[in-house]
Amino acid sequence: MDPASGRAGPFRIAALASGRGSNLQALIDAIAAGTLDARIVGVFSDRPGAAALERAAAAGIETATLRPKDFDARVEFDRAMFERVDAVRPDLVVCAGYMRLISAPAVEARPGLLVNIHPSLLPHFKGLHTHRQALEAGAPEHGASVHYVTAELDGGPVIAQARVPVLAGDDEHALAARVLTREHPLLVETVRWIATGRVHLHEHRVHVDGVPLRAPLQLGSNNRFA
Ligand code: GRF
Repeated sequence: MDPASGRAGPFRIAALASGRGSNLQALIDAIAAGTLDARIVGVFSDRPGAAALERAAAAGIETATLRPKDFDARVEFDRAMFERVDAVRPDLVVCAGYMRLISAPAVEARPGLLVNIHPSLLPHFKGLHTHRQALEAGAPEHGASVHYVTAELDGGPVIAQARVPVLAGDDEHALAARVLTREHPLLVETVRWIATGRVHLHEHRVHVDGVPLRAPLQLGSNNRFA
């Protein structure tokens, strides 16, 4: 039993991923390096060919894939998916490049359990093509956010952000690459604060050290929150 958390055994993370899996890899690497005291107990995907699944398998993590086309409705897909997720008894579910909207019943049954990383400074630029949206809006800065998942797309309470400048001559590709390098430490640091009990959701608000958060935590250049 960990006396600080009252938890038996390591902090248990389940990850949902649809694609490349670089954010998942950042968590795997931080755990392997001993900088994140946690265990990834399952990786779940809606896409059979996702590279994230190979990364998980290479790290010896159990995986499961369900195909949306095998289900009649989103709620049924989510019911089946979360049956599997619940079975690994996660302390936290990280949506790490999970490209599906999760239906309200699945989210509402698990308050404070799910977080998502989104490549924009929320509430700006929700949804897809966030880097293009930022360039088209002429935003002077851009970045990434980790937020608790609610039924509203990219709309849940924001925990933490990492900011990058938008530079003259940036195209979508260059901007995406700059943001991605900050997403990885942002996700690791946020999960670390949740795993150590410093961050939690209470009455729809993010709390840090027991106090309601007034503005998202900001990742410093040392990859820690200021
Ligand atoms: C990241 O930009 C993440 O913020 C967004 O989807 C992308 C996934 O990248 N939700 P990866 O699969 O983690 O490499």
